[in-house]
Amino acid sequence: IRKIGVLTSGGDSPGMNAAIRSVVRTCAFHNIECLGIYRGYQGMIEGDFKELGPRSVNNIINKGGTILKSARSKDFMTVEGRKKAHENLVKENVDALVVIGGDGSFTGAEVFNNEYGFPVMGIPGTIDNDIFGTSYTLGYDTALNTVVEAIDKIRDTASSHNRLFFVEVMGRDAGHIALNTGIGAGAEEILIPEEDLGLERLLDSLKRSKESGKSSSIVVVAEGDKIGKNVFELKDYVEENLPEYDVRVSVLGHMQRGGSPSCFDRVLASRLGVKAVESILEGKSNFMVGLICDKVALTPLEQAIKGSLSIDTELLRVSDIMTT
Ligand code: F6P
Repeated sequence: IRKIGVLTSGGDSPGMNAAIRSVVRTCAFHNIECLGIYRGYQGMIEGDFKELGPRSVNNIINKGGTILKSARSKDFMTVEGRKKAHENLVKENVDALVVIGGDGSFTGAEVFNNEYGFPVMGIPGTIDNDIFGTSYTLGYDTALNTVVEAIDKIRDTASSHNRLFFVEVMGRDAGHIALNTGIGAGAEEILIPEEDLGLERLLDSLKRSKESGKSSSIVVVAEGDKIGKNVFELKDYVEENLPEYDVRVSVLGHMQRGGSPSCFDRVLASRLGVKAVESILEGKSNFMVGLICDKVALTPLEQAIKGSLSIDTELLRVSDIMTT
């Protein structure tokens, strides 16, 4: 192995830059070259490359987003697109690829590996924390802190005006952000994609909370909640059924994906980058590096993509008890 390519793909997340920096510097440490690939797989197809040395990643450990930019490439889903991408890597003498992204990005890496036998290594980067084979994905911890900070501010208004707020957080298919920030920010109820808690329960809980003397409430709703109503529909529903509530909605949106990474995400990114490059140098391919029981470990990409994920039901119980 003389040269490793690195790209970021799919939704960006805080800590991606720290991971790029780690990959680049680990390559330099082992005297191999590193090629930055811009705009994910699309840049691989279009030959959008730049050599990255250890000094080209100065001052990025603290930056959100990704200096390599990110994209969801439709062309890479085609045989012709992947052929062009492979030709470009061969032309540049790239021997292996580090892909920083989520399950969609890993699926692309796996298909590419199957077709060309090209060595690939994944680093999990998504705020959703929905990848099998790691307790934490890059950006998740930062997003949790961003969300809790935002809800703390919303709570000021909720409590000053005796209001109920539905706060929508990211998580199209996963409730980790909602569940953990809900507990961390002291939410009354938490609605997630993995479980349908039911509208009746929501009404009961809000009724009880009012009766118990609470003057304001926060309900955290994952964007893909299973209850089948979005935050605006939930507002209408509660206003119809519990007219005593003054309800507002706040959708946090993409602010959750930005910002300077937390220390945890920076350290995680640094550890995963080192492991990704050194695993390639040991001849390994088609794995994802992740954190299992606080140790950096490899999981086959196929498992990382398909492994079954579950929500920690104990957290739901903790949340229930906390709203007493
Ligand atoms: O990064 C993951 C995620 O935040 C999901 O929770 C969300 O549904 C999605 O990205 C939105 O991404 P985009 O705005 O890029 O389509």
